[in-house]
Amino acid sequence: MSAEKYLEMAIAVPLNQILAEHPICRDFFMNLRLQDLDWNLPLMQALDHSDQEAISEFGLDRGMILREFSLFLEAFSRVAADAAAIRSLTIIGGHGKSGEPEITQWTATVGEIISIVGPTGSGKSRLLADIECLADGDTPTGRRIHVDGREVDEGQRFDMEGKLVAQLSQNMNFVMDLTVKEFLEMHAGSRMTRDAEHAIARCFECANELAGEKFALDTKVTQLSGGQSRALMIADTACMSSSPVVLIDEIENAGIDRRQAIKLLAQKEKIVFISTHDPLLALSADKRLVIKNGCISRIIETSEEEKNCLDAIETLDATLLRLRTRLRHGDEISMNTLKGEE
Ligand SMILES: Nc1ncnc2c1ncn2[C@@H]1O[C@H](COP(=O)(O)OP(=O)(O)O)[C@@H](O)[C@H]1O
Ligand SMILES: [Mg+2]
Repeated sequence: MSAEKYLEMAIAVPLNQILAEHPICRDFFMNLRLQDLDWNLPLMQALDHSDQEAISEFGLDRGMILREFSLFLEAFSRVAADAAAIRSLTIIGGHGKSGEPEITQWTATVGEIISIVGPTGSGKSRLLADIECLADGDTPTGRRIHVDGREVDEGQRFDMEGKLVAQLSQNMNFVMDLTVKEFLEMHAGSRMTRDAEHAIARCFECANELAGEKFALDTKVTQLSGGQSRALMIADTACMSSSPVVLIDEIENAGIDRRQAIKLLAQKEKIVFISTHDPLLALSADKRLVIKNGCISRIIETSEEEKNCLDAIETLDATLLRLRTRLRHGDEISMNTLKGEE
């Protein structure tokens, strides 16, 4: 379901109906100390009839609460959805920006990590968007996406919406001031994970392995650095989300262990697409799609030789990181800094 549909739902549907379907929403209202709403009304009317002081206490107005509620619904319905057990995605080629035909068709299967490379503006994000919406010849590229070798009809498309794909974007805007533990508990709870404690501990451990700087279970999510919050989201996607397809649009400069992140996602029987300019990420994938002028122009399988370059690339990467860190701290640079000897 799209963001707009959640907004429509938040506007039109009485709260108790939403709560019956998504019990996790109680937490949203508890957090804002809005436990005394008239649950028979849709959100906006319920807010009209409630204590206005309670609403403004958090510096929010009705419009903001509505917006945050619909974002919350969207985020949590996604993780709550059952796994749509799929085995493969097939991209049926469309056409490039000048109408030139694309590679006829190509299939990705679960367990594969695919990077997407190409100049800025070539159509990498467009390809991710085509996959997300299960394009049916109805996007600017004319591509079609088949699931398990079959066309997806309208009914299935509706059923799968929000369950098939987890999107990891650059901006993690946490809507509430939860601790990391509470955040993970919510996800574990909404999935009814049998062994929630274990899942939370495992996910937290993964997130900390990925993050450059460590954080604690009682750190507030709003206080995490960019790299830490991305590490948390990647671990959360790998460990908690049941969506079989993960789309990642450019996570470079994220301050996380990217090779480790790829390995973590790869263990999980998912199909992962990553658009990237980062050699470390691009070559960590099994395959890479080269996009040119709106088309998938080549599909390259990462060769042994390329895989063998990864260690050297990682060393280069560490050198750059060391230089950046020293500069940031106001230190001077020498040849020894380059060699890693100081
Ligand atoms: N095959 C295509 N036909 C027409 N327009 C396209 C095609 N592929 C991409 N575009 C458009 O080109 C623009 C740039 O694409 P985008 O995916 O944002 O590039 P990138 O992510 O590689 O920087 C977008 O407006 C996109 O919709
Ligand atoms: Mg892009």
